[in-house]
Amino acid sequence: MTALDLSSPVAVVGTGTMGQGIAQVALIAGHPVRLYDAAPGRAQAAADAIGARLDRLVEKDRLTGADRDAARARLLPAGSLADLADCALVVEAVLERLDVKQELFRELEGIVGEDCLLATNTSSLSVTAIGGALRLPGRFVGLHFFNPAPLLPLVEVVSGFATDVTYATRAYETARAWGKTPVACADTPGFIVNRIARPFYAEAFAVYEAQGADPATIDAVLRECGGFRMGAFELTDLIGQDVNESVTRSVWESFFQDVRFTPSLAQRRLVESGRLGRKSGHGWYDYSDGNGGAERDEPHTAEKGRPPAYVVAEGDLGPASELLALIREAGIPVREEDEDHGSRLVLPSGGQLALADGQTSVEFRDVVYFDLALDYRRATRIALSASQDTSPQTLAEATGLFQALGKDVSVIGDVPGMIVARTVARIVDLAHDAVAKGVATEEDIDTAMRLGVNYPLGPFEWSRRLGRNWAYALLDDLHLRDPSGRYAPSLALYRHAYASDKREGNTS
Ligand SMILES: NC(=O)c1ccc[n+]([C@@H]2O[C@H](COP(=O)([O-])OP(=O)(O)OC[C@H]3O[C@@H](n4cnc5c(N)ncnc54)[C@H](O)[C@@H]3O)[C@@H](O)[C@H]2O)c1
Repeated sequence: MTALDLSSPVAVVGTGTMGQGIAQVALIAGHPVRLYDAAPGRAQAAADAIGARLDRLVEKDRLTGADRDAARARLLPAGSLADLADCALVVEAVLERLDVKQELFRELEGIVGEDCLLATNTSSLSVTAIGGALRLPGRFVGLHFFNPAPLLPLVEVVSGFATDVTYATRAYETARAWGKTPVACADTPGFIVNRIARPFYAEAFAVYEAQGADPATIDAVLRECGGFRMGAFELTDLIGQDVNESVTRSVWESFFQDVRFTPSLAQRRLVESGRLGRKSGHGWYDYSDGNGGAERDEPHTAEKGRPPAYVVAEGDLGPASELLALIREAGIPVREEDEDHGSRLVLPSGGQLALADGQTSVEFRDVVYFDLALDYRRATRIALSASQDTSPQTLAEATGLFQALGKDVSVIGDVPGMIVARTVARIVDLAHDAVAKGVATEEDIDTAMRLGVNYPLGPFEWSRRLGRNWAYALLDDLHLRDPSGRYAPSLALYRHAYASDKREGNTS
């Protein structure tokens, strides 16, 4: 089945933030649009607000005056739900409450035609549960837009247990015809993005709670080393700690308190004390004096040190192997030795430098770990972790080495898996787990994470780059050190890693 015909009227029920954005998208695509809101006067106010936004698009030359006028003529506030009888699609964006949504759809079903596609924009309720109120739940889907809907391209098209594939396809094709990038997903807590993104926040908060580093340092490492657009602390200050925590709690509770999704105690304290982020003037950072908090708090950056005279590279550095070329380019001689007992750089001090692998530095004699970078050439910062047993000379040489490559160095505590490495490994794991559970395809998950939360790479693209069992090995090590289950690699990731071993002839 193809997209809805542009002459078909589309209704949006609930004309707050999301409803207005979705209505604008359908309107600009060319549909007649009806707006309904339970609060008196709000549908008219929404029509006025959308009209003003169309004016701004004309001022910016993104819409012609004639198209604006035609769009305005197609936009009608409705006085009652009965006015939506001839609509071919109703998108609901009302209060996030199951009983309210169920009641609304029950009423709507008595008004619209039998072939009318019914959609909810819920972000945390089950599509199957809402659709349970319907006589014909086959025509009911989730159409999960992101805020602001006119600007963000991603739409998760969610099929509940009862959704008929014909209607899911119609919703998918309609979203595409509206200029969006739809992804298909099953009805699971958090759908794709809000499920797979949880470790991005959780691991940053966990490193902070473990006294590994302060928010400014963790944010700087996520940005400048991990390649993420924003760090987890500054991003949650922007989203609102209450909003971000409520998504986390909802996913955790919906998964029957699965330990992999446990919320953060430190974030709970922020929410309880009203430190909600930018909107309250204080979150992880302080915005009270008009300063952008995250810009003011400086990340830890090590003093300039001397580079080592040479390094010895033992084994294969895996995802960090590009470092050897960078070290040579910086004029530091590298002697490569084939060693099968490890993959690391040996420094003149006799100490070793190794990529974060889920172990702690204190377990070894004189080891400094460095964090995973999205791209070691382009990274402008590298985190190093050392224990109290690491010799000062080894840490100084490791610091000087990365500084010689043009990187700022942040020294953090001896936290296994460091910052970027544990975050990426957990995102990769949840992505594999989601595919195995039938949530979505690899391609759609990559698209959703790039477009929905701006990740520099989709989890599967990242996984391929890192090597088939890198994430599994790291999580396995982390799980050994924190056997709560939070880091236990999924069966899907295990299968992935094991299949690769077998293919390479290593079944031991
Ligand atoms: N805000 C976001 O970032 C975001 C993103 C994706 C999805 N969502 C989801 O979209 C939905 C709406 O969120 P929002 O942020 O736009 O909320 P909002 O509070 O801005 O708007 C909700 C509107 O619905 C109206 N309403 C409430 N009950 C109604 C009813 N029974 N019938 C008709 N109208 C009713 C209210 O008067 C209000 O105008 C929620 O389900 C939310 O989870 C929100």
